[in-house]
Amino acid sequence: MEKGLQKNLTVIANILAFLNILCLMATGTVMYWILPPGSGGGLGRGAGLGGGRHLLDGDRIETFLGWGRHDWRNLHFWLAVIFVWLLALHLIVNWPWIKHTFFSKKTNPQCQP
Ligand code: HEM
Repeated sequence: MEKGLQKNLTVIANILAFLNILCLMATGTVMYWILPPGSGGGLGRGAGLGGGRHLLDGDRIETFLGWGRHDWRNLHFWLAVIFVWLLALHLIVNWPWIKHTFFSKKTNPQCQP
């Protein structure tokens, strides 16, 4: 891979992975502290995006910014899927470093005792 392209890809992948993990933390925080289990919207009954279409009588579904727990969990899940792909891209663009560090037989003379 051309050096300039590799450098640009590395920077872009790093920035995207950083923003992605911030969003994962934010959506995880919403599920853990703001809409904990029991806040409703499970079993596909949905609030927010689900619109509460299949609400059963007496169901109470809490939302945050218009989304129920089910919606936040969907977003959290897809962000995690994207994170795995970004991680793969991260390994690819840094493959020369990994190869050199772990698989090269050449030793760095500066590291000799
Ligand atoms: C501050 C950071 C995070 C918090 C507080 C958090 C919180 C949570 C919670 C509460 C759940 C359970 C959701 C449920 O009850 O169904 C969950 C599920 C999950 N989390 Fe996180 N999370 C965080 C970061 C991450 C990160 C960094 C990743 C991936 C790299 C990740 C991947 C997942 C996945 C794959 C699930 C399962 C989703 C599903 O069942 O559909 N989370 N997380």
